[in-house]
Amino acid sequence: MSQRLGIVIAVVVLANIAGAVWLMWWTTRGSTKQAAGETTHVWDGDLTEYNNPLPRWWLWLFILTIVFGLGYLVVFPGLGGFRGIAHWTEVSQWQAEEQTAHQAFEQRFAPLAGMSLEDLSQDPGAMTTAKNLFALNCSACHGSDARGAKGFPNLTDADWLWGGSPQAIYLTIAQGRDGLMPAWGPVLGPQGVEQLVAYVETLSGRAAPAQLAEAGKAQFLTLCSGCHGADGRGNLALGAPNLTDDIWLHGGSEGDIRVSINAGRTNHMPGQLERLGETQVRLLAAYVYSLSPHTAAAAPPAAGAVSP
Ligand code: HEC
Ligand code: HEC
Repeated sequence: MSQRLGIVIAVVVLANIAGAVWLMWWTTRGSTKQAAGETTHVWDGDLTEYNNPLPRWWLWLFILTIVFGLGYLVVFPGLGGFRGIAHWTEVSQWQAEEQTAHQAFEQRFAPLAGMSLEDLSQDPGAMTTAKNLFALNCSACHGSDARGAKGFPNLTDADWLWGGSPQAIYLTIAQGRDGLMPAWGPVLGPQGVEQLVAYVETLSGRAAPAQLAEAGKAQFLTLCSGCHGADGRGNLALGAPNLTDDIWLHGGSEGDIRVSINAGRTNHMPGQLERLGETQVRLLAAYVYSLSPHTAAAAPPAAGAVSP
C-alpha cells in the first residue's frame, strides 16, 4: 500500500468514527431540550410522536463499541499503513500455526529418525502418511498416481534421470534438480537436426532413413555423447535421459524429439528440504523408492524366510 493511500484510508476510518460520535452527541443533545413525554409531531390529527432520549443502556452500547473500535485500531492493523502495536499479521499467525503443526509432526515421527530409507519404505504407517504428503506437495506436478506427465517424470518406473537409489532420490527431493539440454538448432542447422532425430529414433529401435541416421551417429558421438553417453544410455550425474528405452520425458513422437534437439529443454524440480524439513523429505524419499519396481520385486520374502 502506498503511503498516500494509507493516509487516505486512516483519515476516512477516523472521520467515520468521529461522525458516529458526533451523531450520537447531536441526537442526545436535541432530545434534552424537551421534557420527557412531550410530543413533537402530530399526524392525521391524532398520531403523536414522542422524542424521548435513547435508553441509557443502549447509549452505553454505542459508546462501548466506539471505545472497542478505537482500541482495536491501536492494537491491530486497520488504520492504513499503521501496523498496530501488536504487530499482528495474517501471515505471521499462519506461520505460527504452521510452525506448531510442523513441530507436532516432527515429534510424532521422531522415533523413525534412525531408520534407513529402505526400512522406512516398508513401514505401512509411515507410508500412509507419506502418501498424503505426496498428494499434498508433489501430485500437482507428478500426478496423484506419481506417473508424471509430459515434462514431469514418471516416478513409478525403473527409468531414472538422477538415480533410483534411496540416497539419490533423497537428494533429488531435498535439493531439487535442474535438467538442462542445450538447443542444437542454431549449431546444427535444419539438416543436422534431421540427422540427429533419425539417429535418436534408431537408438530406441525405431525405423529411420539409414543415411540420415548414419550421419547423425557421427554427430551424436561428438556433440551428445558427453552427456547422453556414447551408447545413448544417459548419465545420472547430469540428469541426461536414457535415449534407448523408448521412455520419453518430453514426448517420443518424431515432432517432440525434433523440438527437444532443436530448441533444447530446461526443466526444474524444486528442492523441498527448506520447505518441508528433514523428516518429511525422508518420508517422501522412502515413498518414491517404494513406488519403483526395485522394491516391488524384492518385497515379498520367500515363504519361511525370517526377515532381519
Ligand atoms: C513444480 C513441479 C514439481 C513439484 C511440485 C515436484 N516435482 Fe519432482 N520433478 C519435477 C520435474 C520437472 C522433474 C524433472 C527434473 C529434470 O528434468 O531433471 C522432477 C524430478 C523428480 C524426481 C527425479 C526423477 C528421476 O527420474 O530421477 C523425483 C524423485 C521427484 N521429482 C520427486 C518429487 C517429490 C517427492 C515431490 C514432492 C515433494 C516433487 N517431486 C515435487 C517437478 C516437480
Ligand atoms: C549438456 C548435456 C547435454 C548435451 C550435450 C545433450 N543433451 Fe540431450 N538432454 C540433456 C538433458 C539434461 C536432458 C533432459 C532435460 C530435462 O531434464 O528436461 C536432455 C534431453 C534430451 C532429449 C529428450 C529426451 C526425452 O526423454 O524426452 C533428447 C531427444 C536429447 N536430449 C537429445 C540430445 C541430442 C541429439 C544431443 C546432441 C545433439 C544432446 N541431447 C546433447 C543433456 C544434454
